[in-house]
Amino acid sequence: MKLLITGGAGFIGANLVRHVLGTHPTDSVVTLDLLTYAGNLANLEGVLDDPRHRFVRGDIADAGVVADAITGVDAVINLAAETHVDRSIVDATAFLRTNVVGTQVLLDAARRGGVRRFVQVSTDEVYGSLGPTGQFTEESPLLPNSPYAASKCAADCLVRAAHQTHGLDAVITRCSNNYGPYQFPEKLTPLFITNALVDEPLPLYGDGRHVRDWLHVSDHCRALDQVLRTGRAGEVYNIGGGNERQNHDIAAIILRALEKPATLVRHVEDRLGHDRRYAIDATKIEAALGWTPALPFEDGIQQTIDWYRTHRAWWEAVKSGAYLDYYEAMYGDRLRAAKGGE
Ligand code: NAD
Ligand code: DAU
Repeated sequence: MKLLITGGAGFIGANLVRHVLGTHPTDSVVTLDLLTYAGNLANLEGVLDDPRHRFVRGDIADAGVVADAITGVDAVINLAAETHVDRSIVDATAFLRTNVVGTQVLLDAARRGGVRRFVQVSTDEVYGSLGPTGQFTEESPLLPNSPYAASKCAADCLVRAAHQTHGLDAVITRCSNNYGPYQFPEKLTPLFITNALVDEPLPLYGDGRHVRDWLHVSDHCRALDQVLRTGRAGEVYNIGGGNERQNHDIAAIILRALEKPATLVRHVEDRLGHDRRYAIDATKIEAALGWTPALPFEDGIQQTIDWYRTHRAWWEAVKSGAYLDYYEAMYGDRLRAAKGGE
């Protein structure tokens, strides 16, 4: 099979490119990625010069670029997106262009190009926020709360419309929070690990009791591969680890593993519209496609902490230049106004 993986220089995309090339010896991959601040060719180290892999730098919202990249492709997995909730709160423009317009450009090109399968990598955030009990199922209402979630929700609707109206063979996945290697250190786990490694404060939003359902990126990649090959056209599949944790527990696990003091935690001003709890019911993908998570959280988080500890050059290069301006804008005032440790 020849695959087009968009966003393949980002966190999940790079792990997926590696997974596909490593597990399917007759598959080939075209990676289409704009290399925004979140994209990084270093994430593809080791597979960039694989003869079964071609990297194309380009924008999924550019119809000409997409028409070229999609030529001869059997299936598309769309991971290209603006992905950080906090950035979408500051300015949603790029989220609408990439996540909404870009997805429609890809859908049109897939239809014209006779692509046999389109996998839209969506998120559990389209369902909004849960109270203390319950889980998101595929039938849960779409109630996005952040501009990021709203843009992903719009993309899901466009994918559904392409299937319903044009008969495009399309499938949507909605996964919970991923952690693992090559994640941009604006997200909770890589930010807290890399800050702890250099004794910088860990900025915990609000009371720190918000809940996320954590899944190792390798399990997400296995699920995407399974959906690609055996999922049913027109279906939505939730993907989750059944592993709910409060954010302050994540901070504590990281600090303990690195033998750093709990006083590094700073309770800072909360995120606007902060979703309280996510939890995924993954019964459908488990029953229909036989996927289950393989890596227990305790092992996965330890491996992840070790990866950032031993890949200092990777994240030091990322945490420079424009990142430092971002960090000051996002956290400067919050940290200066913050209360001390837990
Ligand atoms: P990421 O931010 O690490 O990577 C996104 C990639 O998309 C980057 O390489 C970037 O350069 C590329 N990109 C951005 N705009 C582009 C454009 N216009 N054209 C081409 N490429 C462009 O994101 P991630 O965490 O790897 O997420 C990948 C996908 O998975 C996203 O669609 C996201 O919504 C979804 N998702 C992420 C998580 C998570 O926990 N990270 C969970 C569920 C779903
Ligand atoms: O649920 C899937 C989603 O998970 C994906 O669709 C998104 O692309 C991905 O970014 C992630 O969204 P979250 O907003 O849940 O992830 P983030 O890492 O930004 O935050 C996780 C939790 O940690 C959330 O409750 C906010 C909190 N947080 C985050 C940061 C960056 C902090 O307390 N401090 C921080 O500095």
